[in-house]
Amino acid sequence: MDNRTTALITGASSGIGQAYAQRLAARGHDLVLVARRADRLAELAADLRSVHVKALPVDLAVGDGIAAVEAEIAGNPDLAVVVNAAGIGALGPLVDADVADVEQLVTLNVLALTRLSRAALSAFRARGGGQLVNIGSLGAFRAPPGGAAYGASKAYVLHLSRALQRETADTGTQVQVVLPGPVRTEFFDAAGSDATLFPDESFITAEELVDAALSGLDRGELVCIPTLQDVAAWERVAALQDELRDLAGLRGIIAPRYTPANRTK
Ligand SMILES: NC(=O)c1ccc[n+]([C@@H]2O[C@H](COP(=O)([O-])OP(=O)(O)OC[C@H]3O[C@@H](n4cnc5c(N)ncnc54)[C@H](OP(=O)(O)O)[C@@H]3O)[C@@H](O)[C@H]2O)c1
Repeated sequence: MDNRTTALITGASSGIGQAYAQRLAARGHDLVLVARRADRLAELAADLRSVHVKALPVDLAVGDGIAAVEAEIAGNPDLAVVVNAAGIGALGPLVDADVADVEQLVTLNVLALTRLSRAALSAFRARGGGQLVNIGSLGAFRAPPGGAAYGASKAYVLHLSRALQRETADTGTQVQVVLPGPVRTEFFDAAGSDATLFPDESFITAEELVDAALSGLDRGELVCIPTLQDVAAWERVAALQDELRDLAGLRGIIAPRYTPANRTK
């Protein structure tokens, strides 16, 4: 009996998504590859002859493209893994950015990832489980000038994914968010991005990233920061966020520095 499972990967035409395609094919998954460049997807499909590969060349920054991938997720009974890797980077100072570029970034990095996460969780619920991997960024922890919408979109990916982890706890579905630092890919070719901001030695390869993230996923590590040497640092950040929310959110009392006696003007 053929009981192969399928992995759908967005952003599969280069970089991190392409490395996921190679590694998940090596693990025996059939693949659905999503990106705009059909020629790249066809080349990759030709290289990955050991598994069945379907190329889905769509633009995820437009509603019809997102809907086509949602339909694929809903209609493929063998789907067990969805990787949201498609994303674009910094645009330069927001005030100077083209409005169409800002809209494209938010639609791709935020809306498409959210809709495809929702579609994946719905399919996995019907089929008893699955794995959703969302590619965030260490940019989620920064608010860099020149990368305002990008950093904010990646903070969104982190928060969305952590909430989904809680929503799917004990359901047989895993939601992993991966937070890479600099990775040598085509990512920095876009206008507004500048690879020279990062020292050479801070870069890893897409293959190193994906191998680490899959090994984390195998161990059930759902917030995966491959280059963080001491995972306790992330645990401290998460605990501090909870503490801050409790400190400010449990009692509706305005802090004394805002009372009239303490106002400077
Ligand atoms: N590289 C880094 O240093 C780094 C660090 C942290 C996080 N990340 C994240 O990692 C993810 C993958 O980036 P990467 O480094 O692998 O960059 P990349 O090599 O530029 O790959 C980006 C992928 O997204 C696809 N894509 C872009 N716009 C799209 C659209 N409108 N519709 C469908 N697909 C689209 C591209 O394919 P087409 O152009 O063919 O559509 C490509 O396959 C992104 O979410 C990025 O934010 C990267």
